[in-house]
Amino acid sequence: MTQFNGANYTNKPLVGTTTVPGDKSISHRIALFAACAEGATRVRGLLNSADVHSTLDAVVALGAQVDLTEDADFPDTLYGTITGWGKAGPAQPAQAIDCGNSGTTARLLMGLLAGYPLRVELVGDESLSRRPMRRVAEPLTQMGARFESAGKLAGKSIGKPTDKQESPELTLPLVVHGSSELRGIHYDSPVASAQVKSAVLLAGLNAQGATSVTEPRLSRTHTELLLPSFGVELERRDYGRTTLIEGGQHLQACEAELQVPSDPSSAAFLLIAAALTSSSELTVQGVSLNPTRTGFLSIMRRMGVKIAIRNSNLENEEEVPALSFESRGTITAFYSPELQGTTIEAGEIPSLIDEIPILALLATAAQGTTRFCEVSELRVKETDRLAAIVEGLTTLGFIAYVEENDLVIEGDGTILSHRSSAASHSSSLTKPNKNVTKSYRPLKARIALATHNDHRLAMTWLVAARAFALNLDIDGLESLTVSYPSFLKDLERLGSL
Ligand code: S3P
Repeated sequence: MTQFNGANYTNKPLVGTTTVPGDKSISHRIALFAACAEGATRVRGLLNSADVHSTLDAVVALGAQVDLTEDADFPDTLYGTITGWGKAGPAQPAQAIDCGNSGTTARLLMGLLAGYPLRVELVGDESLSRRPMRRVAEPLTQMGARFESAGKLAGKSIGKPTDKQESPELTLPLVVHGSSELRGIHYDSPVASAQVKSAVLLAGLNAQGATSVTEPRLSRTHTELLLPSFGVELERRDYGRTTLIEGGQHLQACEAELQVPSDPSSAAFLLIAAALTSSSELTVQGVSLNPTRTGFLSIMRRMGVKIAIRNSNLENEEEVPALSFESRGTITAFYSPELQGTTIEAGEIPSLIDEIPILALLATAAQGTTRFCEVSELRVKETDRLAAIVEGLTTLGFIAYVEENDLVIEGDGTILSHRSSAASHSSSLTKPNKNVTKSYRPLKARIALATHNDHRLAMTWLVAARAFALNLDIDGLESLTVSYPSFLKDLERLGSL
């Protein structure tokens, strides 16, 4: 399944109740923390996707035991146990660890390995090998670990100012030289990144003294919420923006079975598809309602999407596990044709960073301008998402451009499938000149869209095909395996096409 052709795609309503696979960020963390712990941790709802397998394969290479089975009742999820290396620590792997496409695997492993006297090479696919690792290596180097780029920066460890000038970025493949004598630091992170925060905290567990991280804006809090389930004590200050951890703490297997909530980032694609498709009413159950992840719901509401949210924890429903480290709930989205543009402030971005491609698609149907402020982080995701969103939306005939570090979409208040034809203009990152005369093409014209092998772009363009009934050729659909392997099946099943 590499190519999608939407010649016969229609926009039948999305109706019914469904679940989506387990949360990707939480699944990575459960796999890593259970691998560090003494004893066996039971887990259910773990995401069965390529990214999570990168982490599972890595912890097996480092000495953890993974016994997981596919859950026949919940597609794309696994249940079973992970038995950790405990106090013995991870073993020296025989070969390089392949992090595949997964930034979370690479960056959290850098933090985890920093505190052990091992020499571990991390490699990744082409996309991951372009992504910045200095943001994680920098604080870990201050703590006493060393990183050596096995690629073009061979032989140079980071940390010296001259290296910074010669090599502004550090990328995979790289070798982590851990140390059993890490020093605790306070780190003022220049980026709101849960991967940076988590890497420093994981290293802090094996450091002497206390380690704390302050972020400019609160990023997703899964590490802080989950570590206490493994017996780790930590302190959160400043409304969560600062987290402090004492070194020398050993993780214990979690006693209760950990149930992974459904991934809100995956749910967002189905919910927005429903909002854009006539007569739809779609419910997604068991979704994480962690407020550091649900910014997209506030934006959907602000733009005029009718949504109902029920917090399952508050209602004490049976589905809630005894140990509830994350709140979860049921979300229903209704077809909402009257949408308004909005400004998404820089402070809101971390809580919806992975949903920007699909929110941008929603914005094409809104009346007026939607502006995503300060979204330069999108340039260093699985691909340059800023460029790829503008490229895809302009190919579809929408007005989308980048102004400094803002992404801007100008909608005309009509869902594309309600228009008689689509505008046609060439793609450029800058604001189009209003005086340029547009040409128009029939809606059913065949259009090719590139995913750049990025799972979130693949899902966005599939929603465009589905909600706007477009005849799209979409390449690179194998990237769906990264976070939501059954996405296309679900998109079709829920509309009984
Ligand atoms: C993630 C954090 C975010 C997010 C990514 C997953 C995590 O990245 O975009 O998909 O699991 O910690 P950053 O930490 O780079 O913001």
